[in-house]
Order: sequence, then structure tokens, then C-alpha cells
Amino acid sequence: MSKINSAAVQVQAEIMSNKKVGAYHHIVFHVGSAAAAARPGNFVAIAVGGENSPMILRRAFAIYRASDRGNGSGLIELVIAPFGGGSRWLTEQGVGKFVDMIAPLGTAFGIPKEPVRALLVGGGYGSAPLFGLSEILKARGCRVDMVLGASSSNKIYAPLEGKRSVSSLTLTTDDGSVGIHGRVSDVLPGIIDENKIDIVYSCGPMAMLQAVTEIADSFGIMNQAAVEESMACGIGVCMTCVIPVKGDDGVIRMLRSCIDGPVMDGSQVIWDSSRTIPEGTWGA
Ligand SMILES: Cc1cc2nc3c(=O)[nH]c(=O)nc-3n(C[C@H](O)[C@H](O)[C@H](O)COP(=O)(O)OP(=O)(O)OC[C@H]3O[C@@H](n4cnc5c(N)ncnc54)[C@H](O)[C@@H]3O)c2cc1C
Ligand code: FES
Repeated sequence: MSKINSAAVQVQAEIMSNKKVGAYHHIVFHVGSAAAAARPGNFVAIAVGGENSPMILRRAFAIYRASDRGNGSGLIELVIAPFGGGSRWLTEQGVGKFVDMIAPLGTAFGIPKEPVRALLVGGGYGSAPLFGLSEILKARGCRVDMVLGASSSNKIYAPLEGKRSVSSLTLTTDDGSVGIHGRVSDVLPGIIDENKIDIVYSCGPMAMLQAVTEIADSFGIMNQAAVEESMACGIGVCMTCVIPVKGDDGVIRMLRSCIDGPVMDGSQVIWDSSRTIPEGTWGA
């Protein structure tokens, strides 16, 4: 049975910096020793709204970067889109404020032992965990190409230092305000074919992950997808984040994306279930 990430701890994380970048806020937290065990793909769950807040559920955010500076003085960086009450509250918190954070949570992207040609695909803030992943893959001798897509240019998160960590970066926007006018799925087949990609890593909206998986499947390569199902607890207790996944034994099970994911083998996820339990699911 799956368990919560064994490295997860609850910390009072101090905000060291909070900067607006395009449509997002890049926030750096001092998290002590919690940073040391964080891997690309892991996420954090943050209590929002302060004391006596009616927003009782923690909010999940992918870890953009984690750095362990030794002596328990690690940092975790997040990229936050002000969306509803909780994420807006977080983006309004200034330097020196403390937030209650559980980190690191969930599964991480699998790193190949041999150098491979990897394609990283992000939608909107879904690019957040991909830059740290890219650095690890490059250090292993991999070629790393990246495709980032969003509705418009201010929703592309691609900082300069991140751009340096990839061999090529292709941008797509729905409105054509930057990069190629279209969706990430329009450019993927050409890039996979031309660069002889061995593996895809993706993070973003579920519809994008489904499209990326279908393309990866058509080339016979794996898509490690970090799913973004709504999460109410983030620690495996409430079952709100379950999605249907077909195991190696062919059996469909409802898995908790907060502890069995967020990183999953895209070809095993039943993407078009529309939050229903598919027929034949184990236990249904
Ligand atoms: C693994 C993961 C990584 C993410 N990474 C990022 C990131 O890097 N940056 C970013 O900006 N956003 C990220 N998100 C999205 C982020 O969690 C949401 O934008 C945030 O929770 C919105 O909170 P809110 O209070 O602003 O919005 P609101 O809409 O006011 O509140 C959302 C709340 O409703 C709950 N909720 C909504 N639908 C359901 C449901 N069907 N079942 C149970 N509870 C539900 C949620 O748990 C949450 O507590 C990520 C989400 C996940 C799951
Ligand atoms: S979010 Fe509660 S079990 Fe996954």
C-alpha cells in the first residue's frame, strides 16, 4: 500500500522573497532541513489564510527549486498563480511572514541511469518543476529539450537561468503573443521525431497531459506525467484526489494522486474518465 512521502515534515516556513514575474509570484521560503529530501516532481501543501481562516484545506504547489545550503538552512521556491482565495492570500504575504507548510510530498520524476534524450513539456505554471529536473538530467549527460505552452505570453514561466539549463526551448501560446501560435501538442511530434526523443516528462493541466501522453504513446515512448488533480488534504487521507490508473496487471484502480503521484506513467492513467469510476475498476 502506498504511503505518504517518508521525508515529509511540517515546518513554519519563512518567506525570504516574493517577486511578481509575469502572471505569477516567485516565492522563496526558508524551510530548514525539509529542502534536502525534495526532488523534482514533489510538491508542498500550505495552510492558507492565517489563524482562524475559513479556508481549512491546504493548497498544493509543485516545488520549483529546492536547495540545501547545509546546517538545516534549506530553501524551497514556488511559482504561484493568484487564482482563488488561498493562492491570492499566499502571493500577498511579504518577506518575514511565516506559513505552515508540509514538504516534500508525493512522488518524484524518475531519473534514467544512462544518458537519454529527454523532452520536458510544461503548461502554464506546470513549467515550475521542469527546470530543476532539467539540471539533474543535464548533469547525467542527457540532452534536454523543452516545450512550454500557455494561453498568452505572461503565463509562460521561463526564467533566464532556466533557459540556460536546456538544449532547446520552444514556446507556444494560444493567442500567438509569443512563440508559435498554437498548443504544445502541435509541435511535439516534430520535436520528438527530429531529436529522436527517448522519454517525455510533462506537467500541466490534465487535458494537456492526456494529449502529450497520446503523442508519446504513438512514438512508443514513456510520458512521465505530473498530474494536477484537485487535492483537499495532500497527504493521502481524504480520497478526493483519486484517479483511475491501469496497473501492469491490467487492473484499473482508483489511486490517490497525492501519494501514488503526482508523477505517474501517463500511459497507465485513464484520462477520459471525467471524474467517474470506469467500469471494471477494482473494488467498484
Ligand atoms: C500537485 C499539484 C501541484 C500544483 N502546483 C501548482 C503550482 O506550482 N503553482 C500554482 O499556482 N498552482 C499549483 N497547483 C494548483 C493549486 O493547488 C491551486 O491553484 C490552488 O489550490 C487554488 O487554491 P485557491 O484557494 O487559490 O483556489 P480556490 O478555488 O478558492 O480553492 C481551491 C480549494 O478547493 C479544493 N478543491 C477544489 N476542487 C476540489 C475537488 N474536486 N475536491 C476536493 N477539493 C477540491 C482544493 O483542494 C483547494 O483547497 C497545483 C495543484 C496540484 C494538485
Ligand atoms: S488529497 Fe487527500 S487523499 Fe489525496
